[in-house]
Amino acid sequence: DWTTHNVVEEQIASIQAQVGTKRAICGLSGGVDSAVAAALVQKAIGDQLTCVYVDHGLMRKGETEQVEKDFVAATGVQLKVVDAQERFLNALAGVSDPEEKRKIIGREFIRVFEQAQAEIVAEAGAEGEDVAFLVQGTLYPDVVESGGGTGTANIKSHHNVGGLPDDIEFELVEPLRQLFKDEVRMVGQELGLPEEIVQRQPFPGPGLGIRIVGEVTKERLDLLRDADAIAREELTAAGLDRDIWQCPVVLLADVRSVGVQGDGRTYGHPIVLRPVSSEDAMTADWTRMPYDVLAKISTRITNEVADVNRVVLDVTSKPPGTIEWE
Ligand code: XMP
Repeated sequence: DWTTHNVVEEQIASIQAQVGTKRAICGLSGGVDSAVAAALVQKAIGDQLTCVYVDHGLMRKGETEQVEKDFVAATGVQLKVVDAQERFLNALAGVSDPEEKRKIIGREFIRVFEQAQAEIVAEAGAEGEDVAFLVQGTLYPDVVESGGGTGTANIKSHHNVGGLPDDIEFELVEPLRQLFKDEVRMVGQELGLPEEIVQRQPFPGPGLGIRIVGEVTKERLDLLRDADAIAREELTAAGLDRDIWQCPVVLLADVRSVGVQGDGRTYGHPIVLRPVSSEDAMTADWTRMPYDVLAKISTRITNEVADVNRVVLDVTSKPPGTIEWE
């Protein structure tokens, strides 16, 4: 019968059977899923595991520092941080189509992991290992939305499923593939991960790259990072973190509207707030959140973020909208 204890025991046995005495790497994103997957695999194979954190430049403010500090402190895991900002920005240059962006991001992740794996093997003097294992925190809903690995996305290609390149040479280790988010959180708790990690709101692996509607550039990322940080700060200050499943903050980079500041005309971009309530992200409703909090976020973003002169609220459920805009 289903208990988190049984799930943990079963997965540990199956990870040990799959990986044996070999080495594995795990991509950490800062999110709950990859953290729980990493903790589970670490429990199974100890320091045969190295976690790799790819700083792709699509992260929110403070994310990289959080992984470097909190997760390592909680688990003692071996961590390799790769600065791949330029690589991802170059690969995404000129691309606006959401599925194309997702596939590029999925591919670049794998290329960076391959390079990291080669370095880790060389450092450990373990050349000649024939299999390279890659641990991913893929959940059941990721698989469903990506079309179950059929190559055709039902809805969208999650970076770690439908967004993977065809020539991938890793053997995947995906201990959470049958679980929903709430179950993953329970497994994380069972493994002793701290609340700040286990209760984090979901954040997609492709990061802010799929929250800029239009081409992804350094300037747009910086702008969105600022707006997102303000929204998160105010939601936390209002005590709403646990009431809201997640709140994507989206930049409509190709849209401009006319506004006024002081006695001058502005012609800036809109920012969309997308607070949603959900059980498992398969369906969702827009969160009826307090107007005064919305007002505060709107005032601060339009005052503090240059080139943004309008903040709009997304009041669409899923379906027909998805949680992310891309
Ligand atoms: P959608 O937008 O499909 O999102 O309603 C459902 C949930 O999945 C997250 N999401 C992703 N997570 N890689 C991820 O790790 C992805 O490519 C990806 N796309 C969407 C989204 O944030 C929401 O929680």
